Parts: sequence; C-alpha cells; structure tokens
Amino acid sequence: MPQQREDGHVSTDSEKRLAAEAAAALVENGMTVGLGTGSTVAFLLPALAARNLSVRCFATSVHTQEVATTLGLDVELADTLDHLDIAIDGADQVTPDGWLIKGGGGAHTREKIVAAATARFVVIGDSTKPVDALRPPVPVELLGFGLPATLRHLRQVKIREGWPPSPDGGIIADYLGPIDDPAELAARLSATPGLVGHGLFEPAMTADVLIGRENGVDHRKLHD
Ligand code: 5RP
Repeated sequence: MPQQREDGHVSTDSEKRLAAEAAAALVENGMTVGLGTGSTVAFLLPALAARNLSVRCFATSVHTQEVATTLGLDVELADTLDHLDIAIDGADQVTPDGWLIKGGGGAHTREKIVAAATARFVVIGDSTKPVDALRPPVPVELLGFGLPATLRHLRQVKIREGWPPSPDGGIIADYLGPIDDPAELAARLSATPGLVGHGLFEPAMTADVLIGRENGVDHRKLHD
C-alpha cells in the first residue's frame, strides 16, 4: 500500500524506489541501456549509477539526460541509437495482459522509439499503476502543421495548456475518447495524419513489469 503521512498525503515513493532498484539490478556490464522519463525513473538513475557498470545509455528526455549525466552515467546522443539490450521506463497504466498507457510526462514518442529498439523493455511502477482496463487520457504528440485539421480528425482531444513543445517540436495533447478496444484505438491514432506518436504501448513491446509494493516487488514476465 502507498504510505500515508499524518497530513493525509499518500506517497508511493517507497514502492517506486523498490521497483526501480529491482530493475537496475537487471542491467549487466557492457549493455546498451535505454533510460525512461518520470518520477519512477528518478529512482532508477541513482540506483543504476551506484552499480558502477560500464554501460552506454540513451535517454528519452532532456531531463533524464541531464540527471543521468550528472550522476556519472555515460549518456550518448540519440542519433546513434540503434539496438538496445535493455530499456527501463515508468508507465501511467498497465493492464493484466500488458497494455500500457505512457506519456504522463509527454515523452511517449521518444519512449516508444526506445521501447521498440530494445531487446528487453522493462516497465517499473508503484501499486497505483496496475488497472483492470485502460482509461483515458491517452497522451498524443501532434505536428504544428495543420493542427486544426488534426484536432478535427481526432475529435475528443485536448492540448495540454502551458506545456512546452516536445524536444522534437511536437505539441503535447491528450486523447479523451473511450478506449473500448486498445488495439483498434492504437491503429486509428497511428493512422491519423499529423499525429506523431501516442501513448498506447501494445503488450508485445514489454518484456517485464515490476510493480513495487509495501513489502517487495511483483515481477511479471510477459515474454522473453
Ligand atoms: C513520461 C512517462 C512516464 O514514464 C509515465 O508518465 C510514468 O511516470 P511516473 O513514473 O512519474 O509515474 O510515460 O512520458
């Protein structure tokens, strides 16, 4: 259970830390490593750095890149990113069959490129992340060119107010319509002109899900 303080604030930090440390332990010397983005990954970076491995890292956001570099991790520019041995990232929702929603931090386009390039994509999260069924919002990244036409095409979508463009110039928004069939919605979003990326990750992408709990980590293996 998430920890509740006297003032009523509920913290999932200890669960995130447990999941992140378990994931850091999966990394081996000589690996190429994808680093995700978010508050759970914030626990991964020091845990990985503390292992003093010789690894080449690729970051999914400028923030992750800066923190990882400060911690002494060797972070390479993404234009040399090809095949990765392992990538570790958070998620906003994960279903029993392995569908994810990602992009709470707006980094889902880069995160999906990294997930798709890796042999072993490991998802880390706290006990609030498992869900029975996905629910909106689904983060999306949109091109500025023809934006009104893209918004009209998508219908139930809202641009995130006050959010800067992604490092790749995209506009971060959320699709708010129903998610009756994740595969059908993922295909529809992918086929929308002007939509650069969306936060629905299909189960085939993820190898492991590590969920931190009060007394340990639930490690679910989806595939090798
Ligand atoms: C960023 C993401 C994050 O991994 C996701 O939002 C989970 O974040 P957190 O670990 O802070 O709960 O997809 O784009």
